[in-house]
Amino acid sequence: MTNKRYLIETWGCQMNEHDSEKISGILRSLGYKEAENRNNADLIIFNTCLVRENAELKVYGNIGELKRLKRKNKDLTVAICGCMMQKKEVRDVIREKYKQVDIIFGTHNIHKLPELLENYRQSDNMLIDVWEDSGEIIEQIPTKRKYDYKAFLNIMYGCNNFCTYCIVPYTRGREKSRNPEEILKEVNRLAKEGFKEITLLGQNVNSYGKTLNSKMTFAELLRKINEVDGIKRIRFMTSHPKDLSDELIYAIRDCENICKHIHLPFQAGSNKILKLMNRKYTKEQYLDLMYKIRQEIPEIAITTDIIVGFPNETEKDFEETLDVVRKSRFDSAFTFLYSVREGTPAAKMENQIPDKVKHERFQKLLDTLHPISYENNKRTIGKTFDVLVEGVSKNDDTMYTGRTGTNKLVHFKANEEFIGKIVNVKINSVKTWSLQGEIVD
Ligand code: 5AD
Ligand code: SF4
Repeated sequence: MTNKRYLIETWGCQMNEHDSEKISGILRSLGYKEAENRNNADLIIFNTCLVRENAELKVYGNIGELKRLKRKNKDLTVAICGCMMQKKEVRDVIREKYKQVDIIFGTHNIHKLPELLENYRQSDNMLIDVWEDSGEIIEQIPTKRKYDYKAFLNIMYGCNNFCTYCIVPYTRGREKSRNPEEILKEVNRLAKEGFKEITLLGQNVNSYGKTLNSKMTFAELLRKINEVDGIKRIRFMTSHPKDLSDELIYAIRDCENICKHIHLPFQAGSNKILKLMNRKYTKEQYLDLMYKIRQEIPEIAITTDIIVGFPNETEKDFEETLDVVRKSRFDSAFTFLYSVREGTPAAKMENQIPDKVKHERFQKLLDTLHPISYENNKRTIGKTFDVLVEGVSKNDDTMYTGRTGTNKLVHFKANEEFIGKIVNVKINSVKTWSLQGEIVD
């Protein structure tokens, strides 16, 4: 046992956030405590992301800053893990240029952290241990969750889709589903511990079960989780339009505890670009799907991911993206400038789009999306929603925030005792990004 302090800084998606909760759990089981900041940490871990260049550059900048800290504190250990470390070229750069790094590990050997720390203690050199995907799922990793009322839960790992822009299939390996028994065991445990909301994580949750011997679909899994007493809200992400079945739409519609929100990335509107992206659906199929979902579940909120400036995207192609946005009326969207990722097929495509054009299109996209989000929000005025209270607002410390089942951010007056509880909030006014209201009985 040790009395050392650790600090984990995380970049990227919820999958990474959840991996950091596992790293945290492992370190606590070794006796480590959490440090408040970099200055009083004995072990700093960066959990990194490779999905866009920006994220990558930020990580290098932050590793650079640790040099000064290492000089001040000779006992400080610096470890870097996550998707970036799965790439040999990145490891080579760090080995050569960032001598302040002590340990490098990857996305497939988090559970080996105790051994890595011990091995590092016995050596003076940078320790690099990154595994390729073994196809194995490691269960029972101790997990220290960030919140005690909402929890992430992996239902599958990896991705087989190979969208041509995306690095994830190379860093997270092949798709594999967790056994339903293990998932349900974890959900039941969380319910007993008092968790109210769970988010089921996978790169493409709609293809859950394909790698299992006992075939189970995602819709069947959801219906089972819906039966677990105590879990009031079930969320999931991310959904791929090509695998979204009617059976799943009916499960969301029928199950009381499944949140009426779906994150359904469409990425681009032009069929030519969708094909180049290897998305395996057309604009028309996507719009039909939206129509079907809204017809079955009128109150549902739909959010999406959109990439602008993919290679070969003409003005006309981009107009198709705007057309999908206008027709789909998304509640919100994550928008991205296409970022070249070495090792993916799109990086080698001709007709890359100049930055200036990408930025112009990006602005046009935001100008189209924002009024729609605002209009959608306006429709909530006067209505009452159940809101899971999360804490004091980041921007205004006289207000608390929480989220509706449809995942909209709400501001309201409350006090500490409400944190982690589900309350009814009546909406009085709205902005593009959030709603404002008051707690009612
Ligand atoms: N460039 C820009 N956006 C990307 N995404 C994934 N790879 C890239 C890339 N190379 C976006 C997609 C995905 C989201 C998580 O990140 O929209 O859905
Ligand atoms: Fe990347 Fe496509 Fe897999 Fe999502 S579905 S992780 S975008 S390859």
